[in-house]
Amino acid sequence: MQEPKTYFIRTYGCQMNELDTEIMAGQLQKRGLSPAADEESADLLIFNTCSIRDLAERKVMGKLGQLGRAHKRHALIGVTGCMAMAKKDSLFRKFPHLDFVLGTNNITDLGVVLDEALYTQKQVFKTDDRFEENLDYLVAVRDHKLKASVSIIRGCDKFCTYCVVPYTRGQEVSRPPESVVEECKKLVDAGYKEITLLGQNVNSYGKDRPEWNCLFHDLLAQLDRIPGMCRIRFMTSHPIDITIELMQAIRDLPSLCEFVHFPIQAGSSRILKKMHRIYTKEQYLEKVALLRQIVPNVSLGTDIIVGFPTETEAEFQETYDVLKEIRYSVAFLFAYSPRKGTPAMRWNDDIPEEVKQERLQRLMALQEEIGNEERQQMLGQTVEVLVERFNRDGKNLKGRTRCWKKVIFEGDESMVGTLQMVTVHSYSHQTLVGSIKKLALID
Ligand code: 5AD
Ligand code: SF4
Repeated sequence: MQEPKTYFIRTYGCQMNELDTEIMAGQLQKRGLSPAADEESADLLIFNTCSIRDLAERKVMGKLGQLGRAHKRHALIGVTGCMAMAKKDSLFRKFPHLDFVLGTNNITDLGVVLDEALYTQKQVFKTDDRFEENLDYLVAVRDHKLKASVSIIRGCDKFCTYCVVPYTRGQEVSRPPESVVEECKKLVDAGYKEITLLGQNVNSYGKDRPEWNCLFHDLLAQLDRIPGMCRIRFMTSHPIDITIELMQAIRDLPSLCEFVHFPIQAGSSRILKKMHRIYTKEQYLEKVALLRQIVPNVSLGTDIIVGFPTETEAEFQETYDVLKEIRYSVAFLFAYSPRKGTPAMRWNDDIPEEVKQERLQRLMALQEEIGNEERQQMLGQTVEVLVERFNRDGKNLKGRTRCWKKVIFEGDESMVGTLQMVTVHSYSHQTLVGSIKKLALID
């Protein structure tokens, strides 16, 4: 087998996977490979996979099977990401045409694994359970010129009973603050305007390294001080770790956006206990009330799972009522699917698919109604928009508010990459439509 000249990485799942793809792409480019236009023409094909729900896995399994049956043989095919961790070398039995499997904790080893696969012509796998903080983050090649994701903590120690992440991404490992600050400084100097700090649970940052004396809010304060830092976001949080200090940071740090992804998962305390979410509905609501008291203009996002084992109609109704009461700006709604290796897998997946789908539809309809009311209330308001690019219509510019709302408005190319104050006058579906209020705040 020859050294591949081109690569193509297909990414599934979350933002952490997207970032890992950017890091792998950087490593491959450093090695001399260039990006291929499509899957078919690539010498090296990598599937950076997701295991969070059944559907995500089935998509990849279908794709790998299809490739095995195809006539054209790629030089090399690899699987990375959560499925690599969940299935390890068992993937080789199912897909004999696969060349390597690389786990989420071994991205640094991509080059070594490639070498081994190329020179031994054998199937190679490397799937360490624990992440060592040895990644060259600075090598990442990013498509976007204004917005970048920066990893601050990997893994998860929470062990929610439905979730594969603690098994596929391992224990929490924080990245040293100096390393995060260095990367963010470089991004700001390169003209990036929005940085999203990533982790399965960013709020746990620093708890595994007490000697650093740097918890999440301390890190945020350091990042906010970087000259030219425009906007900081973070994804994702566990409600239990959202502290008063973090709430105060959102209120006080100018660059930190007033948007918190605050996933409740379910509205019934019995289901929350069964999910091992370690808070009750009442504790969650209290925390939301406190956050809204400290940061009155905060917007909230959530994740919700319907049809968790034994969820009754009345318990689902509690989730419905919480959604109605809290009025999230963004809600990601999922039907429960059992995942191998998780505690919930032992329980009977007893809610029929039709019931799960029907509950999902009811939540979606409610969320749509809430979204429309929220957009209605925004008419006449002036919001800060980071202008990202031209909209698909080629006429309007497109960007997002600090609270993550999509806005389009008329303007010219020179405004891309600037902050603009835009007055909202209407909306179309989920997008706000407005016009410029005044000139750029910063370039
Ligand atoms: N079934 C359905 N949804 C799930 N999630 C995690 N595991 C499962 C599962 N087994 C959802 C949770 C999590 C989001 C990323 O995916 O809501 O917050
Ligand atoms: Fe999964 Fe729970 Fe960890 Fe989130 S906090 S990644 S849902 S185990």
